[in-house]
Amino acid sequence: MAKPLKHVFVCVQRRPEGHPRGACSQRACDEVLNAFLGEVQQRKLFDKIAVTNTGCLGPCGFGVSVLVYPEGVMYGRVTANDVTAIIDEHLLGNNPVERLRVPPFVWS
Ligand code: FES
Repeated sequence: MAKPLKHVFVCVQRRPEGHPRGACSQRACDEVLNAFLGEVQQRKLFDKIAVTNTGCLGPCGFGVSVLVYPEGVMYGRVTANDVTAIIDEHLLGNNPVERLRVPPFVWS
């Protein structure tokens, strides 16, 4: 297995209806995950990009949350329509998509 250049974690956390933190599952996280998996497969990027579904990444209020390593860039309010831009600009182009980054205080 090739070591990926980028590793994408997509939050698919579920919580009961009415939970005070909400959850990315209430914002179509499965569509975001499937968009990443589909594009990686379609474009044969397996040797460059790994995609993993994960539990809560922390900033639930900004879900759907997506975290990219090795840079540690956290994206928020990601939709399936944003996935192509993240792949092209960040994962392949090494330029994070600034409009999708969570506010700096999330990492404080
Ligand atoms: S539920 Fe997705 S970041 Fe917390």
